[in-house]
Amino acid sequence: MILAVVGAGYVGMVCGVGFAKMGHQVILIDIDSDKVDMINQGRAPVYETGLDAALRGLAPTSLSATSTLDSDSIGNADAIFLCVQSSTADCEGMDLTPVERAARDVGVALRNSSGYPVVVVKSTVSPGATEKRILPILEESSGKRAGVDFAVMANPEFLREGNALADFLCPDRIVIGGVDTKGRAVLGEIYKDFGVPIISVDRTTAEVIKCACNAFLAAKVSFINEVGNICKALGVDTYKVAEAMGADPRISPHFLKAGIGFGGSCLPKDTRSLCMVARELGYEPILLESILQVNDNQPLRLIEMAERKMGRLVGKKVTVLGLAFKAGTDDVRKSPAIQVTKGLCQRGASVTVYDALAEEKAKGVLQDRVIYCPSAVEAISQAEVVFVLTDSDEFKDVELYSGKVVIDGRRVLDDGVRDGLDYEGICW
Ligand code: UDX
Repeated sequence: MILAVVGAGYVGMVCGVGFAKMGHQVILIDIDSDKVDMINQGRAPVYETGLDAALRGLAPTSLSATSTLDSDSIGNADAIFLCVQSSTADCEGMDLTPVERAARDVGVALRNSSGYPVVVVKSTVSPGATEKRILPILEESSGKRAGVDFAVMANPEFLREGNALADFLCPDRIVIGGVDTKGRAVLGEIYKDFGVPIISVDRTTAEVIKCACNAFLAAKVSFINEVGNICKALGVDTYKVAEAMGADPRISPHFLKAGIGFGGSCLPKDTRSLCMVARELGYEPILLESILQVNDNQPLRLIEMAERKMGRLVGKKVTVLGLAFKAGTDDVRKSPAIQVTKGLCQRGASVTVYDALAEEKAKGVLQDRVIYCPSAVEAISQAEVVFVLTDSDEFKDVELYSGKVVIDGRRVLDDGVRDGLDYEGICW
């Protein structure tokens, strides 16, 4: 089928390449012409495991990119996927401006379209947003009516950064939101070869599913971090507790790694979004708020622990290993490691940092407040204290840390290997 993908960011790039690998013909549309040029040269504008190779491995005509969103670029598409990034607004809700702008552009391009186009909202939007904001924008900008002249569907993604292409090609399930018969038929056809359950619901239910999944994952992380903080005070190793908990299939071993907390562009934003919607509906989301509060406090707990161990950090030479919100990605959005690094700077420490993948994006946030090093060994060489803030494999080499004080926020050094080190873990 012919698929238009609007937005060549983390989600749009993975979906575009993934759809093309599944045999569809894809046109990727992005307002950034530099990104478009990169894609047409076979280079992905975002870092994602295996994405560049997959893009270069596509048949020549299966994927093209353009910065022009008009009836020519999307007019022949069987479905038009909105994949632009929603972001966290100042009020910590969801800023849908980019999605709304894309919807407006698509609507204008549909003014002269024939047939019955299917517009698919894949971007994560707050529950109810497609009904209340995206659909009216499409109708107003196209001069047409949803359900009469075109379909509007929701199709949330469940992609993990660093594993997104694999998650796209081998999903646990496909969620299709919308009761439009043609819309369901077209999406059913698009996904028919994925060989996984297709769950069909209405648009708002699909949006709730997406936010609730991420809020639940966030809940597991904050839960194990709260248990971890209690275990730390008891002198108990949270990881041993989590191992026994995870043996119960109702709990599962996943998302029970205690540490400095969750970050990224999704878990924080989607959990907050659910909070905002709840309040707008007159419901006080006590549990959802506490998930966020535990998470907001966690990075600070690491610094306080270091101060208890080291005394005041002013003037101390410290090194931070890992700046991304998790290992294996270059993304520093809502990264707890960035929060810790800023906190160390605010306390007057002399901070050196290293993160092979995330350095460039971290520079946009930390600027010249820290010293950047090209390797872990170099970054550590002058340090008194080393903070390990992502569980990147290269940080698991215990030889790195001889003679240093180690403050571990991500359990990179397990029991046994850290004997003899001056070591402290945030929740163990
Ligand atoms: C998440 C969801 O997993 C994915 O389904 C959704 O589509 C997008 O959001 P992502 O944000 O890429 O994916 O990362 P994920 O692997 O879920 O980790 C999120 C955060 O939780 C990271 O900061 C990670 O370090 C942290 N985390 C995760 C923990 O602290 N402990 C854990 O056990 C697992």
